[in-house]
Amino acid sequence: MRKRLIAGNWKMNLHWNEAMSLVSEIVQNENQSDWSSVDVAVIPPFIYSRPAFEFLKNAGSNIILGSQNCASTENGAFTGEISASMIEQIGATMVLVGHSERRDYYNEDAAVLKEKISRVLEQNLTPIFCCGEHLKQRKSNSHESTIIDQLESVVFQFSGEDVSKMVIAYEPVWAIGKGETASPQQAQDMHAFIRSSFHKKYGSEIADNLRILYGGSMNPTNAAELLSQTDVDGGLIGGAALAADKFKAIIEA
Ligand code: PGA
Repeated sequence: MRKRLIAGNWKMNLHWNEAMSLVSEIVQNENQSDWSSVDVAVIPPFIYSRPAFEFLKNAGSNIILGSQNCASTENGAFTGEISASMIEQIGATMVLVGHSERRDYYNEDAAVLKEKISRVLEQNLTPIFCCGEHLKQRKSNSHESTIIDQLESVVFQFSGEDVSKMVIAYEPVWAIGKGETASPQQAQDMHAFIRSSFHKKYGSEIADNLRILYGGSMNPTNAAELLSQTDVDGGLIGGAALAADKFKAIIEA
């Protein structure tokens, strides 16, 4: 049985007071609800991570802290970078790797992403590996081959034991931050395709236990239908994760 995961990726949003108010509102909602059947994660900008962790810990919250990125290298002379071991030390347990914004704006390629996953796994953290096609690939019907390339060049380079520690997020780039989502059927088809490719490569136990999240303009209105699809095991939420009431509605969808 795969436990659903709803993760809020705040991206480079919110100032200090807003960020801490949002954590506090999310915890208030958690206290007033029963979220025990779902894993909930918040993924704030790095600079808010430690205070967010302390807030969650002091509140006795079950909410998981994640990181939006990490360095592909270990500690050392890499100005401006944050290492996986630093992320581990501040209390985060999940790290996004390969978000399309990192791939597109910071030229992160398969070789870099593979290194990042290695660093994350070395620290016993959970990589959330993001994959997704651009609109032109969807229109030219090459969305499945795009996803396979992204998986083969990074994730499929790892052992089954390593892969069993990962989460996959399918995020069609044309649906991110656009208010446009994949239809529930499009999401289900791609998630089933992704699962079957893990099945072929690693066998049924790993494939059946793999959590595959959907990301791309998930919101309180469309969440229930997307999350009711057989192979959709949760959501990676951007815009709607910046408002505690919307995030709550998605968790409870
Ligand atoms: P969105 O972002 O929900 O704003 O589309 C999702 C993501 O990029 O993770």
